[in-house]
Formats: sequence, structure tokens, C-alpha cells
Amino acid sequence: MANKERDSFGSRFGVLVALAGSAIGLGNLWRFPYLVGNNGGAAFIIMYVIFVIFLCLPIMVSEFVIGRRTQANVFGGIRRIAPKSAWPIIGILSVAAVIFIMAFYFVVGGWTIEYILKSFSASFLASDNTALASFFGEFISSPVAPAIMMLVFLGLTALIVVAGIKDGIEKYSKIMMPGLFLLIIILCVRSLTLPGASEGVKFLFSPDFSKLRPDSILAALGQAFFSLSLGMGCMITYGSYIAKKENLIHMSFITAGADTLFAILAGIAIMPAVFAFGMPPAQGPGLVFIILPQIFAQMPLGNIFSIAFFVILFVAAITSAISMLEVVVAYFMEELKMSRRTAVIVTCVIVAILGSLSSLSQGTLKDYTLFGKSIFDIFDYTTSNIMLPVGGLFIVLFVGWKMKRSDVLDELTSGGTIPFKRNILDVTMFCIKFLAPVAISFVLLNSIGLIKFF
Ligand code: TRP
Repeated sequence: MANKERDSFGSRFGVLVALAGSAIGLGNLWRFPYLVGNNGGAAFIIMYVIFVIFLCLPIMVSEFVIGRRTQANVFGGIRRIAPKSAWPIIGILSVAAVIFIMAFYFVVGGWTIEYILKSFSASFLASDNTALASFFGEFISSPVAPAIMMLVFLGLTALIVVAGIKDGIEKYSKIMMPGLFLLIIILCVRSLTLPGASEGVKFLFSPDFSKLRPDSILAALGQAFFSLSLGMGCMITYGSYIAKKENLIHMSFITAGADTLFAILAGIAIMPAVFAFGMPPAQGPGLVFIILPQIFAQMPLGNIFSIAFFVILFVAAITSAISMLEVVVAYFMEELKMSRRTAVIVTCVIVAILGSLSSLSQGTLKDYTLFGKSIFDIFDYTTSNIMLPVGGLFIVLFVGWKMKRSDVLDELTSGGTIPFKRNILDVTMFCIKFLAPVAISFVLLNSIGLIKFF
């Protein structure tokens, strides 16, 4: 496909909100606050930030370099640089990983829609705590309702992606992302002004090194990968729509900074409220879908805060979901010569089938397990723990060792038009070539159990 016809982002602000939209998602809102609380508070945050800077930024920069250099999808881009080699397999692996992630992410996206609708009914929040807890379990394990909500979420995502980059992804991100930050700040203020909020702030921010266990390291790295949308070509795909004049290193910093800031704001919005109402800082979906409704039920104007919270969750999820869909759509369009519309429809059919299976695996198909994990958990586990780190590893190896150094530097400096200090480029290249591959291999081998370092 000629580059002239290729859609692209229209403005710097548009690129940045789209990138932040991809990064900020469900990972920030329920996973990060809980991990921080259970892994030593500030101690975990410091470690997380170090990983983001030294390991994740090099991967993000590498993904942008591949994407913008080749102006192509994840598979086509890699093949353009290394034709007739095995490298493009990374592209296929990435497309598969994105499809697997969508298979569970869109199910949770559907839950957020159900909870927005529920928050409007006064009777929902009037239920007692036990009823609110059993509602969640009954809802996600029922066969039809959550699958329908997943399809609604998929449909909305498809409507944005089918409109293209400038008129779809960029346009909607520009509206949704500022709204998202505004809403989370309102919730932070509400949470911090509750009597007893300071306990929650302490839980989040006072470093407790005794809670920093060896597996906290893995948790921090896995979280950083997932939260920054790395390792499966999302940033290659978005990078291919970034204008040549933009500074890729700068954009990586802003994206990672916004994502980390949002994760911390999410912690501030959630944890002080959890402590103020004497709730357990429980993990995962339970915290967001069970404990928070119980808190809203006891708050004055609880319905309004409940709607606000689940709208935040929904918006964060859908701006990430569009970035996943786009990876596959760009691949189908450019490699299989489909129109955007056909590519979106084909991808949606695949996601609808796999998503229904993973939704059903919460109830009807509960007994179909592999290694003791449900279909939903398999999609979740294999992607975060294996496919993303493997993808990220190959991407830095590709940019560090396969691409010509002069080409990488040319892309980083936008053809020599951005004057970088020599040592900034040297440090970036060192991280891409050595630090990131070694550190990721270490974590990966450890997490699949081939070697046990700790
Ligand atoms: N980063 C998003 C979140 O925090 C999820 C996401 C979007 C993602 N694209 C991705 C995760 C690519 C891994 C890879 O929810």
C-alpha cells in the first residue's frame, strides 16, 4: 500500500492522547493499586518506576522506531526491514497475542458497561453487602448477559476503529482522555476527604520493605509491560501513524509518565475510600466490582460516584481496546489487502467467538480447564507471563542487533533534525542492545520456571 494513502495522526496532541489511551486501562485501575498495597507500598512504586525507565522505555522506543521507519503493521514492518528471514514471525506472534488479550479484556470491558447501567438504578446500590457480592458472581457466571455486554463493548470499539486513525481513534481519544483525567481527579478529592482516608494513603505510600518479596520483582515487571501496552506490536502499529518530525524518545517519556501518573491517581481514588469504610484491600476484579459498589452504597450521592467510577473504567478500557483491535485490523488490511471495514468485521468475528468462550468459562464452561486454569485465565496468564515478555525481548533484539545502528539513530533523530546530546542516544542504544534483553530474559526464564533465581 502506498504510504500516501495511509491514514495517520493529525496532531501532536492527538498522538499523545491516543498513546496514553492505549496505555491507561484496566491494568492501571485495579491491578496497580492492589499490587502496590501488597508489595510494600512506596518501595514497589520506586521499583516499578525504575523498570519503566530502564526496561520499558527502551522497548517502547524500539516499537516506535520499527513502526515509523516502515510505516507498516507489525508483521509487514518487520518483514520490510528483514525480508526472507525468520524475524517476521514476531509479527505473527504479536497478532496472536493481541487476539488472546482481547479474548479476556473485552469480557471485562463488557462488565464495566453492565455496572454503569446498574449504577443508574437506585435499587442496586440499596442492596446489602452480601447481595452486592453475590451479584458479581452471579452476573459473570451467567451464560448470556455478560456475553451480550462483551458484544456491546466490542461493537462500540469497532465503531471507533472502523472510522480510521484521524477520524476515529484520534478524534475519540481527544474527547475521552481529558475527561478521564478530570473524572479521576474528582474521585481522588472525594476519596481523600472521607474521614479515615489517611490510612489508605499510608497503605499506598509508606514504604514497607518487609513486604517486598522476591516475586514482587516479577509482579512489577509484568505490570509495567501490560500497563504500557508493550510486547505485542501495539506501539509498532501506533508508531506507524506518527509524523516523521515527532521526537520518539520524548513521546515515550510522556506516554510512560501519563500512565504512571494515572496509576497513582487510581490508587489515591480507590485506597483511601477502601480504608475509610473499613473494607479489605482485596485483589483484582473483586476490589473494583464488589468492594467499591459496597462503598458507594454507603456514601452520600453514591449513585453519582458509582456512575463516575464505572464510566472511568469503561473509558480507560475502550481506549486500550481500540489500540488492540487496530493491531489486527492494520495487519489484515495491509497483508491480506482487506478494506478497513472488512478487516474490522473479520477481527470482530474472531474476538466475538473467543470472547464468548472466555465469558462462558466463568460459568457454563467452568469445568473445561487446562493445567487447572479456565479458558479466561489461560488467555490472561499466557499472554501477560509469556507472550508479552517474549514479544518485547525479540523487539529489542531486533532493533538492537538486526537493524542498522545508523537507521535506528536516523529514526530517533528524525533524519538528524532533532539535536540530541550524544550520551542520551548512547544510553538509549545501550538499554536497547544490552540492558533490556538481559533483564527480560532473566525474568522470563524465571517466570516460566526454567531457572529459579529467586
Ligand atoms: N495497557 C492497557 C492496560 O493497562 C492494556 C493494553 C492495551 C495492552 N494494549 C496492550 C496490554 C498491549 C498488553 C499489550 O489496561
